[in-house]
Amino acid sequence: MKIFALFLFLLSTATCTRMPDIQNSSTYLIPQPVEIQQSGGSFVLTMASTIGFDNQESRKIAEMLAQKLNVPTGFSIKAQQIRAGAIQFNLNKVFVAQIGKEGYALESTPKGVVITANEPAGLFYGMQTLLQLLPKEIESKTAIKTNWTIPGVKITDYPRFAWRGIMLDVSRNFFSKEDVKLYIEQISRFKYNTFHWHLTDDNGWRIEIKSLPKLTEVGAWRVPRSGHFGQRAEPKTGEAATVGGFYTQDDIKEIIQYAQDRNVTIVPEIDVPGHSMAAIAAYPELSCTKNQNTKVNPGTAFAIFDGKWKSLIDNTLNPSDEKVYEFLDKVFTEVASLFPNQYVHIGGDECFKTYWAADANCRALMKKLNITNVENLQGYFMSRVDKILKDKGKKILGWNEILEGGISPGATVMSWQGIEGGIKAAKMGHDVVMTPSTFAYLDYQQGDQTIEPYIYADYCKLRLKKCYGFDPVPDGVEAKYILGGQGNLWTEQIPTLRHAEYMTWPRAWALSEVFWSPKKTKNWPNFVQRVEKQFNRADFAEINHSLAIYDAIINIRSKDGKLKVEMETEMPGLDIFYTIDDTMPDSYSTKYTKPVDLPNGPITLRVISYRNGKPIGHLITLKQDDLKRRING
Ligand code: ACM
Repeated sequence: MKIFALFLFLLSTATCTRMPDIQNSSTYLIPQPVEIQQSGGSFVLTMASTIGFDNQESRKIAEMLAQKLNVPTGFSIKAQQIRAGAIQFNLNKVFVAQIGKEGYALESTPKGVVITANEPAGLFYGMQTLLQLLPKEIESKTAIKTNWTIPGVKITDYPRFAWRGIMLDVSRNFFSKEDVKLYIEQISRFKYNTFHWHLTDDNGWRIEIKSLPKLTEVGAWRVPRSGHFGQRAEPKTGEAATVGGFYTQDDIKEIIQYAQDRNVTIVPEIDVPGHSMAAIAAYPELSCTKNQNTKVNPGTAFAIFDGKWKSLIDNTLNPSDEKVYEFLDKVFTEVASLFPNQYVHIGGDECFKTYWAADANCRALMKKLNITNVENLQGYFMSRVDKILKDKGKKILGWNEILEGGISPGATVMSWQGIEGGIKAAKMGHDVVMTPSTFAYLDYQQGDQTIEPYIYADYCKLRLKKCYGFDPVPDGVEAKYILGGQGNLWTEQIPTLRHAEYMTWPRAWALSEVFWSPKKTKNWPNFVQRVEKQFNRADFAEINHSLAIYDAIINIRSKDGKLKVEMETEMPGLDIFYTIDDTMPDSYSTKYTKPVDLPNGPITLRVISYRNGKPIGHLITLKQDDLKRRING
């Protein structure tokens, strides 16, 4: 037995040493680099340290680092064009194929740190890795005294996917130019390179279109309302629309430049033909119903589900009206000239066709086109938009519904209703970005429903571990069609940047690893250790984040008329204590070890998680009705 145990021990240590790509206790990088070797020793940054760059292209990154380091260290380091800076940024003279356009190599020794890359993007990512190698205090907004030690490591790193995106919805709630920049800066730290900007929807049109001024004069503003989105009161007659905002074209240029400096490409989304109530409030003639009383929606329940979604207010552009295509041409002319990126996202999701089906002109058009269903009418609309954008040198990208009515040949599909749309599109030879709600919707609740802020439906749950388990390339699909993946932050229930951060982190740390790191390096226990270190860094950076990972997960089953409770935590190594006798649970209460049969009757279950004798999770309280509601859910 002993020999067998020794054999197992040797086997396990041998396995560990053969895996230099899993970080040990001195580095806690997210996302996990492709290769990392700890070489021992360390470099200490001092006020005498220099930052060097080799040419004008690497200068920007070196200067960005100097600016960042000088705040917490209180040093006055300047980036210089030298060959032997204590921290040195060099661009490769000969392209190194292994690391591609965004990869980098970083070597830190007691003498200093050298970061090399083929392109500035790689130097930027090398800089982000270097910042994570420094102590957490490097994120401080004021000067602080500590040893600025960088452990000795050798890293070779490059992304798994070319598309590593985060979407921010600025229509449901408006986020200022400064907020948007901060958010872009935050995602760039984790090597995201795409910011999908959801600029228009029923609840606000956020981009200045100079040839169509009412889009922002009218479409950017709604009446003030509080309370849950989807349950709010209609605008009253004559009520002033005072809530909202928009980005001028100068704002947008500034944000694009800011993003470019951080290797972030912006994909603008103009969501048509559905989700267009704000545009229709400005120009009612664009819809079939031409209702002059259409208002920017403040979050009312304007659509109902009776087997199929039906809209009670027309929020859809009229596909049979040439004036709509003239309108879109004006919009996309300005969008195409503002955004340098090749992609424009044209939405296409959740288009309620109730009013199209009832409209004589739409029916006449369908007859002319020889089509019999309204899905194909959307296909026709999308092909017209595709042509408008193609003529301006752009490629279209749309939500997976664009598959329903016949998809344009060069369109890229963003798969959100699961991965099925993405699979179908890839099998048809389309490029795909995977962003299934089941793994990547950052607006979903990340912990217990009784603790987390409200979201519109009970089933909208997404825990950190589920995000981490996402694989954007499904079995049977050619990987070359999967450009990558994206996390989406819809903001119906997100009124502030602080809350946007809370919903984004740590789940977007998990997704960053899904999109950047090799699949084979996935390791949940190792990842959560690194998450805990990132919590400390985020605290210094004053970036909000959720701690739901410490809360108990409570599952209820019903067996023989009795409720059975099963409990667990995402974070390994926690203890769960509970009571059912109307007392507050603590570490002297019953410790959960196996599924518990609850007595019948009006009991209340109270649960709290502990680590090393200290409470660490939220207290979760479930009355009997809550318990029953949760059966198998
Ligand atoms: C979506 O969530 N409607 C794309």
